[in-house]
Amino acid sequence: MSKFTHHIFVCGKCKPSKRRPKADSHDPGKLRAALKKEIKRLGIKADVRANDSGCLDQCDDGQVVVIYPQAIWYGGVGVEDAERIIHETILAGNILEDLRIPDELLRCGKAAKKDKSTAAEPTQGD
Ligand code: FES
Repeated sequence: MSKFTHHIFVCGKCKPSKRRPKADSHDPGKLRAALKKEIKRLGIKADVRANDSGCLDQCDDGQVVVIYPQAIWYGGVGVEDAERIIHETILAGNILEDLRIPDELLRCGKAAKKDKSTAAEPTQGD
């Protein structure tokens, strides 16, 4: 069984956000297609894969993309960013700071656990 060096997940349910608006280029299907096209063109299909995903719990960040196993989170991604993601992040290993969702804004790990524990706390009188 092969192991991908990079597995790119493109949320198929994201909406453009005010914080990261790219409404003109917001199209999850076209974004994934552009990523796949560049992966195929470069002949790196055996190592890199781009898939649709459902909600990735980062819904305030516009179009969200996450790359595993590196756990690189991008938000506000437009169709025009596909080639940059492949060339700069996948091939060169650079983080695109203009797209990166800062760790402190990620709703996973400690932040998500805190949210769940807060939501589960009973209130007085329960
Ligand atoms: S709808 Fe895309 S991260 Fe939630």
